[in-house]
Amino acid sequence: MKTLSTEEILKRVIRKEDFVADKTAFIDARTPGSDKKENYCIIGPGVSENPNRFINLIEPHGFNIGAAAMPNGCINSLHLHQTAEVFIVAKGTWRFIWGNEGTDGEAILTEGDVISLPTHIFRGFKNIGSDDGFLFSILGEDDPKKVTWGPQVLRDAKDYGLVLLEDGRLIDTAQGVTIPEEAKVIEPMIQEELAKIRKVTQEEMNARVFCFKDRFPYKEAFLDCLSEGGKKLTYGIIGPGISTDPNRPTLITNPHSFSLELLEAEPGNGLSSCSQSTSQVLIVYKGEWKVSWSLEGKEDEIVLTEKDVMSVPKNLIRSIRNVGKETGFLYVVSGGDEWVPLQWTESVIEEAKKNKMELDEHGRLIRE
Ligand SMILES: [Fe+2]
Repeated sequence: MKTLSTEEILKRVIRKEDFVADKTAFIDARTPGSDKKENYCIIGPGVSENPNRFINLIEPHGFNIGAAAMPNGCINSLHLHQTAEVFIVAKGTWRFIWGNEGTDGEAILTEGDVISLPTHIFRGFKNIGSDDGFLFSILGEDDPKKVTWGPQVLRDAKDYGLVLLEDGRLIDTAQGVTIPEEAKVIEPMIQEELAKIRKVTQEEMNARVFCFKDRFPYKEAFLDCLSEGGKKLTYGIIGPGISTDPNRPTLITNPHSFSLELLEAEPGNGLSSCSQSTSQVLIVYKGEWKVSWSLEGKEDEIVLTEKDVMSVPKNLIRSIRNVGKETGFLYVVSGGDEWVPLQWTESVIEEAKKNKMELDEHGRLIRE
């Protein structure tokens, strides 16, 4: 395993101040109602149609992290993805709609809530709060492919000079750019194709929403949950995640190419020293979280605050603690669809034994 330097680890910390807003990421950038969107590519290329977009961290993780900032009333037009699309509401109140006309149902989300939209259906969303809103997005796979826009979205965009080519390029004819002769323009989906798209019921979508205020924790999901510094509540939202107890329930079980869970800890607590063989991204929802590691005998640490994002290197032994004064909430994204057994340090294993928490040969939790 290649040993990372502290400098390389710190490059994986993306502060909210480092996010770079793109106002021309998508074809609806000029359409009234959608023209005030700001999109961010934080980890991975995402699905932006702007070839000049800025990406904070390009390294493939098995998923993409992005964000959208939208003022009150702003709309993200109906579109469809080939891979999973998950939103975490960091700020504001949002209305999600779906279906070919956007009329198959609606989900209202507020701060801390999560929604996973099924692949291959049209979805859109609007900031219906009284203030600016901010969403984190997670898209499945390293290459989440191109967005398919609703037929009316393409027609409206054309009226404002924007045309999308089949090779993914966005052409701004209003700026005098001409459509290359050999290029193929993406045409609106025809009725025959639209008719093949499945319908998602309100009930089906309701089951794909994690409601923060109604959250129900699974206690003692990790080896260190009874040890000093490791006490926490956890919530399985998507996939099996990194819980030491692979039987921890999770809200959404279909494959996404990543897992998502929420950790809740009081000051002084969090995740004790361990490492993980797959990619892991931390997204701070609330509080101050200190990530500490040791490299060649030298201790190092960084404190993450609200909306900060960190990609933790694979196999790095680290601890994560709430060092704020309030209850902290941390969203954790882990690469892959499989359960990920954490590799705990000897001292964590010994401490857990005092609380009658042990591991079997596969790294699963055994309670006496
Ligand atoms: Fe999307």
